Amino acid sequence: MTQASPTNAALAARDLQHIWHPCTQMHDHERVPMVPIVRGEGPWLIDADGRRYLDGISSWWTNLFGHANPRIAAGLAEQAKTLEHVIFAGFTHPVAIELAEQLVRITPPGLEKVFFADNGSAAVEVALKMSFHYWLNQGHGEKTRFIALTGSYHGETLGALSVSDVALYRKTYAPLLLTPILAPSPDAYEGEPGESPEQTAARRLEAMRDLLERHAGETCAVIVEPLVQCAGGMRMYHPSYLSGLRALCDRYDVHLIADEIAVGFGRTGTMFACEQAGIAPDFLCLSKGLTGGTLPLSAVLTTPRVYEAFYAEYNAGKAFLHSHSYTGNPLACRAALETLAIFRDEPVLERNRGLAAHLARQLEPLRDHPHVADVRQHGMIAAVELVADKSTRRPFPAEERRGLHVYLHGLQNGALLRPLGNIIYFMPPYVVNEGDIDHLVRVAREGIALAVKNGA
Ligand SMILES: Cc1ncc(COP(=O)(O)O)c(C=O)c1O
Repeated sequence: MTQASPTNAALAARDLQHIWHPCTQMHDHERVPMVPIVRGEGPWLIDADGRRYLDGISSWWTNLFGHANPRIAAGLAEQAKTLEHVIFAGFTHPVAIELAEQLVRITPPGLEKVFFADNGSAAVEVALKMSFHYWLNQGHGEKTRFIALTGSYHGETLGALSVSDVALYRKTYAPLLLTPILAPSPDAYEGEPGESPEQTAARRLEAMRDLLERHAGETCAVIVEPLVQCAGGMRMYHPSYLSGLRALCDRYDVHLIADEIAVGFGRTGTMFACEQAGIAPDFLCLSKGLTGGTLPLSAVLTTPRVYEAFYAEYNAGKAFLHSHSYTGNPLACRAALETLAIFRDEPVLERNRGLAAHLARQLEPLRDHPHVADVRQHGMIAAVELVADKSTRRPFPAEERRGLHVYLHGLQNGALLRPLGNIIYFMPPYVVNEGDIDHLVRVAREGIALAVKNGA
């Protein structure tokens, strides 16, 4: 006799007994179901009761080529039998070497040195510390500050949170954080009436120039999320801001850190978002899609110029001191190599262009919805901004949690949509088909209808 598999209810009850989940008021689970997923299949997640959910957000923006991807799984199985882990100080292994070589080849020119870490926030910590330490090694210990954009999100460890500006995550911990210099975001949604996204970018560059004029002497780096400020509400901006910013950073002798943790690996239509502005940053942070969404891994790429500022006799005390036990983990590196192999062997970006165009067509009618202020898209990221008043763009009060209705409706109807407040967004794995996109948009549209009802 075979034992019955546990049900959703049984697993959820056991989970809630001991597990404290991220980004969650656990009390919510008195009315919001905890969903136990037991299997993944392409863009679909399957729960213990056999219900299927289309992963419209790529499981926190990580998954590119589907859950339980056979090619990545086979690579991992082989790697697990060969070398699962080895200390990465004094020792190395062929998988990390190959991955570093490939990353240098595919990222913008000039980035030739690769520092591995094991999650996105850790990569941001590395970039901030490396930038500060570069200036210190150059005799500029007075450079201790960072410029970040309003609405930015770079992670939730203390350094990464310091350069983030999403109140939900930052406000409580503010007394523990560094104080960044905040520059107004080039976010096109905040443009003046009649202004094009390019004009908004130009105006915001002026503000950045003023800040650099005043603060460059104490500033290590400017950190940005290229093209899309994701956790800040999928706010998008014109690539000219990045080319202008690159020129300003050069002029004022300040590093540029591009955090492509969410937008890298094809999300915005090009392999890396910086390509759309034709720029190379001084530090490029990568994670999430790096392993196709399989295992935690991150990388910070930088220039020989930065590397050489640390390269000295041991007793000069210039070494970069930052380490994580799982740095350069062979399994994670192998998952990344398999992911890059899929990009090489399949016309991923070309196929995404077709999918993105289909998504745009499906979302177009929502522009006329009386509670939709904006429908925006950059490649495989699209967002719908719900507001209380379309003419003034007055938002729904956050405490009304309108987006939660979309989430719950999604769960009941086979879609994982996880709005950011009142912003409903789509960031599916690249293996969806047009029918999957239609499903996601249909469920979202129904959810929006429920969410905007009076006093929803
Ligand atoms: C742009 C950006 N930077 C950094 C991070 C932090 O990455 P992690 O969650 O792996 O720490 C995120 C996560 O959403 C992100 O979107």
